[in-house]
Amino acid sequence: MKYFILILLFVLACLANAAETLPVDVPDTLAERVKACTICHGAEDRHDGDSYYPRIAGKLEGYLFNQLRHFRDGRRYYQPMAILLENMSDEYLREIARYFAVLNLPYPSPESITLQPVEANLARRLVYSGDSRRNIPACSTCHGKELMGTAPFVPGLLGLPRAYITAQLGGWHSGGLIRGKVANCMADIAKQLTYEEINAIAKWLAVQPVSGEPVGELSVEMSQRCANLALENGEAR
Ligand code: HEC
Ligand code: HEC
Repeated sequence: MKYFILILLFVLACLANAAETLPVDVPDTLAERVKACTICHGAEDRHDGDSYYPRIAGKLEGYLFNQLRHFRDGRRYYQPMAILLENMSDEYLREIARYFAVLNLPYPSPESITLQPVEANLARRLVYSGDSRRNIPACSTCHGKELMGTAPFVPGLLGLPRAYITAQLGGWHSGGLIRGKVANCMADIAKQLTYEEINAIAKWLAVQPVSGEPVGELSVEMSQRCANLALENGEAR
């Protein structure tokens, strides 16, 4: 990993000097500059079974913008990205978020995982009905009927690697490194899920085919529940 980061830093240093060293026919566009990102996130955004890197193309601008700021400001932890984003302004992060939000790339095919019927039922119940005894709304209430996200800042849940989904929910659940530092509506929900539920949900989500796009807006009630994220996004209601 250390060597990988060193190589990455070298590539970035080269990119920073690009204006001087690139031949004249390579334009200095955002598309050229975000190539540092697609080293990991993939120009085609494909993932192969055991990959961890999340897809970012086509996610809502507000969500991407929030994440970029979280990584830069240490509220979401992943060092290689924190280094990359360190000196970038909010305006520039907004520009990058917009670039990826409208990038239309083919989705990977669903992962081939064996899902037991009992796991599928458990996942489906939480995703579409939630659990009122624990004050867990159906995931679809916020993430959308098609689970492709709702404006302005709730991400879609399909087309992501299983390992990535497990790590995010697990991180919130245990208050751990990755995303555990910030209290928000999603952290509150993940804290209440059991590991059995997290595993079942991650498997189930990873085998769903992707169809559709983010639709609609987060309801007023749910926006209030996620108020601290809404404020960050400059969308106070
Ligand atoms: C060294 C590999 C690497 C590079 C380079 C990289 N990323 Fe990432 N990115 C990751 C990983 C791994 C994660 C997931 C981290 C975690 O576990 O939370 C991530 C997460 C993200 C997320 C959050 C996705 C989500 O669904 O929550 C966004 C947005 C993102 N990266 C954008 C970028 C942008 C923009 C760049 C270029 C400026 C970039 N990344 C460069 C590896 C990388
Ligand atoms: C009250 C609204 C709400 C509900 C209900 C909800 N979520 Fe979320 N979820 C969010 C928000 C907001 C985020 C983005 C958090 C952030 O910006 O860090 C999120 C993020 C996520 C992520 C991270 C996605 C990524 O790309 O990194 C996963 C996975 C997730 N939710 C799964 C679930 C599951 C599974 C359920 C149902 C058990 C659920 N959510 C219910 C609001 C909600």
